[in-house]
Amino acid sequence: MTQGVEARTAREHDPFVGRADELDCVEHVLDEVERGPPNAIEVGGEPGIGKTRLLAELGAHAELRGHLVLMGAASELERELPFSVFVHALDEYVASLDPGQLSTLGADVRAELAHVFPSLTTLRREGKLALQHERYRSHRAVRSLLEQLAETRPLMLVLDDFQWADSASVELLGALLRRPAAAAVLVAVAVRPCQLPKRLAVALERAQRAGALTRIELGALTPLEARELLGETVDAARAAALYEESGGNPFYLEQLARSLTRSGGLTFDPHGETAAAIGVPSAVAAALFQELALLSDDARLVLEGAAVAGDPFEPELAAAAAAVSEAAALDAIDQLLQLDLIRITDVPRRFRFRHPLIRRAVYEATAGGWRLAAHERCAEELAARGAPVAARAHHVERSARQGDFGAVAVLGEAGEAAARLAPASAARWFGAALVSFRRRPRARSAPHCCLHAPAASPPPVNSPKAIPTSSNASGSRRRTGEYAPRPRAPPSSACSAFRRTRTATSRLRSPNSIAQSRRRRPNC
Ligand SMILES: Nc1ncnc2c1ncn2[C@@H]1O[C@H](COP(=O)(O)OP(=O)(O)OP(=O)(O)O)[C@@H](O)[C@H]1O
Ligand SMILES: [Mg+2]
Repeated sequence: MTQGVEARTAREHDPFVGRADELDCVEHVLDEVERGPPNAIEVGGEPGIGKTRLLAELGAHAELRGHLVLMGAASELERELPFSVFVHALDEYVASLDPGQLSTLGADVRAELAHVFPSLTTLRREGKLALQHERYRSHRAVRSLLEQLAETRPLMLVLDDFQWADSASVELLGALLRRPAAAAVLVAVAVRPCQLPKRLAVALERAQRAGALTRIELGALTPLEARELLGETVDAARAAALYEESGGNPFYLEQLARSLTRSGGLTFDPHGETAAAIGVPSAVAAALFQELALLSDDARLVLEGAAVAGDPFEPELAAAAAAVSEAAALDAIDQLLQLDLIRITDVPRRFRFRHPLIRRAVYEATAGGWRLAAHERCAEELAARGAPVAARAHHVERSARQGDFGAVAVLGEAGEAAARLAPASAARWFGAALVSFRRRPRARSAPHCCLHAPAASPPPVNSPKAIPTSSNASGSRRRTGEYAPRPRAPPSSACSAFRRTRTATSRLRSPNSIAQSRRRRPNC
């Protein structure tokens, strides 16, 4: 069984080209895993160079050998959900297991796992939780789970786009590299080296020095391989021009070739700034934006809604973000699938962007006010569904308005939920909650206003009153400042969240380190 990232890249009719040495290396590592001891692979390289595709190929090779292959990926814009990469890779598989299969793990291990994997929530135990500094128990529990999954056949755990992993996932990977599972488990990680957080870079470096990690650095395709990738429909002269422009990067090649097919020639970039923001050459950005410009208004709107909703995304959330009906969103999704801008995944009602760079480009190109309102609508939709607070907090953080005490309550709650197992994520949420308070004039005196909350309660968070849903209008008015809401009295939950937030934030990390963690890393 394979699940996760393969749907993004591996289309059955797209041949895999080149990379003979890398595939040899992979076969060698698979041999080693079968013989033990366990090993890990890191595939590194610039955006679009073919890491995900190589991992998909590696997964296919492992499956042919009868290995169990589970795949997960981090997401660029949602980096705060604790253990998200491991949850993405393992949660659905674990949910599909017969409960008896986990019973050999022991009650303590299962109780720990219940705090990591949403599908095991029912195994949580009442009573005292391990202290924060004992969160390493959850690492041991995940190691035991991997050993259990690899009991009857080797397991390959693929963790893609790991440069964007949340801090709990980074810590967990570090623990698994330091002390690998005592079973036939191969961990394969893909990273963009120049976007690696320091802590992850150090963990990978250390594992390589200890002989526990094989590194594969992907470079450009050769002209011959590029020719093969482009196929017969592109003549030799054009293939040479595309190679020159792309530098042999397969994503760039593909994107430029799509543009060539449409317009008959390469175009140049009218969106220089956005090209810089997504970190691709300007000709590639031009090709991408030209493709987006050809979309119908409805399809473009839903694609933008999807970029805000997440990657992967559900049509309902994309519809909510775009403020269109579900039926309209599904029509648009058909068009977007047809154009291969998005792809299906192996999970029903879940779609992916063809490539994270496309999501980033679409997201960056949305107007600031519209984007803000779209995040508000996502937060509302998720609240209405009773979604976990961490999923809501991501959108709330990006759309909280001045003096929005409901937002402070959500962010504080998300911080508390993460505090034990993912203190860095918790610090981020607590920091965001404090920022929301500080945004309000004279909100530095929040504890004072908390003590003087009037009898009348403000509208609850995410209520239509608290968060208007008319997208463009609300966004643009807010941008000009005309829309600044009147300060509202904080609900008591916001007051207590604020107090706990202040205490917890000062315990967890200094304000400087919070600011650091919020700073965006540049693209490669
Ligand atoms: N060896 C290959 N053969 C055929 N197609 C390839 C090959 N390598 C990459 N591609 C194609 O090029 C595109 C970009 O590749 P991929 O998504 O694997 O890049 P990436 O390194 O994972 O990028 P990112 O860092 O942005 O995640 C995909 O459409 C992929 O299918
Ligand atoms: Mg990738």
